[in-house]
Amino acid sequence: MLKKQKKLILTEGQQDSMRRAGRVNARLMDFLRPHIVAGIKTQQIDDLVVQWTNDHGHKAATLGYQNYTKSCCTSVNDVICHGIPDGYELQDGDIINVDITTIVDGWHGDQSETFLIGDVSDERRAVTQAAFDCLYMAIDALQPGCPVSTIGEVIVPEADRRGFTVVREYVGHGLGRQFHLDPSIPHFPNRESRKDRLYPGMCFTVEPMINAGSRYTRCDKKDGWTVRTKDGKPSAQFEHTILMTDKGPEILTLTEHGPRRGHQFIK
Ligand code: MF3
Ligand code: CO
Ligand code: CO
Repeated sequence: MLKKQKKLILTEGQQDSMRRAGRVNARLMDFLRPHIVAGIKTQQIDDLVVQWTNDHGHKAATLGYQNYTKSCCTSVNDVICHGIPDGYELQDGDIINVDITTIVDGWHGDQSETFLIGDVSDERRAVTQAAFDCLYMAIDALQPGCPVSTIGEVIVPEADRRGFTVVREYVGHGLGRQFHLDPSIPHFPNRESRKDRLYPGMCFTVEPMINAGSRYTRCDKKDGWTVRTKDGKPSAQFEHTILMTDKGPEILTLTEHGPRRGHQFIK
């Protein structure tokens, strides 16, 4: 095992702390879900995150993270990730990714879901379905000690088969007492991901961003955060926090009421 990876392996007690953080974060997603409808402003979603997180005695990891000022990310239509909650009011036909990260007793749970608002176009539905399926196909391919590149080896051909593309500039990550840790989890195979391995006791996210058009991205120069597709076409993402165990991957951020493995977004 690479030396740098040894320190990423959590003790049983630390693994339980991550399970708790994941569970709390998932409950927050269950709380939010019924509110993500046409007419709500993305800032109101952030207000709900702040309120729920405070009420339960936790902290949102994004608040103050590298000068980010909100408690979640809300990424609509052609926004790939890191959309900043603001006065935008969700409209019929939008897709929106809501990404939440809660710090529970010092440990991080991180997950996101893309929601369909009302009557959504075929293209937006299909890209949402692709991101969801790519997440589960990648999780299902994971085995104890497998290389990180297993994830990209599954996702790139699947996105390609559907005529879609995989974002490369933004990646999944290890997490624990810190928000972003090694290993880097690209959703495409590269030299580093062929070397890095996922051993039992490691926690990380899988969070593929799938674009309907080209894979290229553009970060908003004014706000420094909002990442959009270069071609203006839609993008979708789903994210879970995973613990690798001796038996395989355990999803720590499964919700009670969210879309389950095999969920159909396409009519
Ligand atoms: N939650 C995102 C992730 O999955 C990171 C958001 S950082 C922020 O890694 F500052 F933009 F909120
Ligand atoms: Co996230
Ligand atoms: Co993440």
